[in-house]
Amino acid sequence: MNINFPEGFLWGGALAANQCEGAYKEGGKGLTTVDLCPTGQKRSEIIRGKIDELRVLEGEFYPSHEAIDFYHRYKEDIALFSEMGFKCLRVSIAWSRIFPSGDEEIPNEEGIKFYDSLFDEMLSHGIEPVVTICHFDTPIGIIEKFGGWKNRKFVDFYLNYCKVIFERYKEKVKYWMTFNEINMILHLPFMGAGVRFKEGENELQIKYQSAHHELIASSLATKLAHEIIPNCMIGCMIAAGDFYPYSCNPDDVLKAKEKERENLLFIDVQSRGKYPGYAKRFFKENNIEIEMEQEDEEILEKHTVDFIGFSYYASRCVSTDPEVLKGETAGNAFKSVKNPYLKSSEWGWQIDPKGLRITCNSLYDRYQKPLFIVENGLGAVDKVEEDGSINDDYRIEYLREHIKAMGEAIADGVELIGYTPWGCIDLVSASTGEMKKRYGFIYVDKDNEGNGTLERYKKKSFYWYKEVIATNGVVLKK
Ligand code: BG6
Repeated sequence: MNINFPEGFLWGGALAANQCEGAYKEGGKGLTTVDLCPTGQKRSEIIRGKIDELRVLEGEFYPSHEAIDFYHRYKEDIALFSEMGFKCLRVSIAWSRIFPSGDEEIPNEEGIKFYDSLFDEMLSHGIEPVVTICHFDTPIGIIEKFGGWKNRKFVDFYLNYCKVIFERYKEKVKYWMTFNEINMILHLPFMGAGVRFKEGENELQIKYQSAHHELIASSLATKLAHEIIPNCMIGCMIAAGDFYPYSCNPDDVLKAKEKERENLLFIDVQSRGKYPGYAKRFFKENNIEIEMEQEDEEILEKHTVDFIGFSYYASRCVSTDPEVLKGETAGNAFKSVKNPYLKSSEWGWQIDPKGLRITCNSLYDRYQKPLFIVENGLGAVDKVEEDGSINDDYRIEYLREHIKAMGEAIADGVELIGYTPWGCIDLVSASTGEMKKRYGFIYVDKDNEGNGTLERYKKKSFYWYKEVIATNGVVLKK
């Protein structure tokens, strides 16, 4: 197989403000959803919307409050990314640094200046910023007053925020994504969209109504970006990974298709510009009534995305057989049937490089728009040896096989514009809040309890990825 990555392919890495910046009260920043997500047992319920009090609780540990202190150390970190040869870096803007409560009339200049400096620093190293507008951090102020994305007012708050950042960073940022893993609103509604539930509420109704508001906001943000930054590329972002039927029993095949569509519904709207027929049937059969305004259909149809951004950690497997269903395994935000042909990570997430080629092909066949893999990687425990080295061969193997699969997808005719492996420097895990679930090429000295010097160390994968980038993937032919 010939691996030929196109000239100008965007090799890089991915981070998100909520998991790396820390400094949660500095620079005028307001509280955000993830600031109320502690580690430990409470986390799982809270990120899924079971949270009564919107405040920091005594006696709990909140890993986002300091995270890896990227807010103060970004220059040092960007120098390391530059040493690896990054062409781009995916970061997110913390909405509550720009509008601390979300509904102020005037933005917070200190927050705006922080991202000005961050983007300047990247650009001075020749690193193109790829920016997620909202990555798991909705301001608590507007959630408290207006109840999260289930309230249509959020569309206006979000657009005010977009207008400020588009105007301010239009000379610096070309690549944008409207919402991180927009489909995660179904699985992590509080972390993703500030949505909470009361006992007895129709959760599905609330989730899909909130999703509709996000979809409208995404389309209007796309319109705004095209007006303010004519040469920009603005994309959607989905947690992807094809669903395999466990067997060729048509019931399994149909269920796999339904699960697939649960995710693709979001991109169908963002990329094709309308709710598909299967969504209408699903809404009807589940007593979901989406409240729409008269102009909504036109908004969705007119302002579709320029590229499809997605995360890929693994494929998923689906069965209708109760016996098989007993063998479920963990995965990105939700469980899936264990695929007997695949190995698993220490956190039970399965490993399927070929599935990346399959997913790229499915998405490209369906949307015919450039694809951007904006997350991929292996969360693993790393050991620091006595001499300070970290020999993460397991991570190199994971990434090598996935990059090869990307090469195959490109050879299949898929238009792939970039690759930003997740957590290119160790950061806080979104699902568990742990530090020991590490993805990085760069090790950060910090543990699950918050102890450590925050010193950075290069892992073996650092040198390996540097060579991959320097040779535009050619080294993988060896
Ligand atoms: C994606 C998110 O779901 O997966 C990231 O966009 C997250 O924010 C990543 O960190 C990996 O998941 P986890 O739970 O291992 O951090």
